[in-house]
Amino acid sequence: MKSCTFIIAVLFFIVITGDVYPKENRGAAEIILESGSRGNIAFPHSRHQDAISDCKTCHTLFPQKSGSIQALIAQGSLEKKQAMTVCQSCHKDMASREEKTGPTRCSKCHDKSLTK
Ligand code: HEC
Ligand code: HEC
Ligand code: HEC
Repeated sequence: MKSCTFIIAVLFFIVITGDVYPKENRGAAEIILESGSRGNIAFPHSRHQDAISDCKTCHTLFPQKSGSIQALIAQGSLEKKQAMTVCQSCHKDMASREEKTGPTRCSKCHDKSLTK
């Protein structure tokens, strides 16, 4: 009987917390990343979320907030090209394993026509 009460308590807790914590905010599906004179980058955010299950792969370096990379660079807490290194090293690693991945060539990410 005790274990039955426990299970009911756990189920009740799950129902309650499901209402308390709202659905995860995944942000925009497509994001234009700023990159000074080199040309901005069209970043397919949702395709990355589908391919990479752990948000922290990117979001330990910068928070889940629009414009956070450039804000951290302006504050001096992130070097220019530090985020880019994360992008590129994943693409390089996956390409070397012949897996489907993103670009490693400068002009495949940077596009001057995206810079206003
Ligand atoms: C491959 C890297 C990468 C992964 C993985 C990733 N994100 Fe992002 N996310 C970004 C980048 C880049 C930005 C834009 C930062 C900027 O504008 O400076 C961003 C921005 C965001 C934003 C703010 C943008 C907006 O439209 O409000 C949210 C929210 C967010 N991410 C949530 C998530 C969640 C939740 C996951 C996991 C399911 C996730 N992200 C996985 C790279 C990633
Ligand atoms: C996978 C995409 C990607 C590739 C490939 C890439 N970059 Fe970047 N680059 C970025 C992103 C995103 C930023 C902005 C965030 C940052 O500075 O880390 C950036 C920023 C930069 C900046 C800093 C611009 C500034 O003034 O703030 C320079 C310079 C740059 N890249 C040059 C290059 C060169 C040269 C190559 C080729 C060897 C290259 N990038 C390849 C994504 C990429
Ligand atoms: C942990 C691995 C990983 C990281 C980190 C990562 N990517 Fe990717 N990227 C991928 C994979 C996997 C794909 C292919 C996704 C697909 O097509 O389903 C991809 C695809 C792309 C594409 C699309 C290329 C095309 O042909 O359409 C672009 C652009 C891109 N990434 C840019 C970036 C930028 C900019 C960053 C950093 C902010 C980044 N990626 C970080 C794994 C990564």
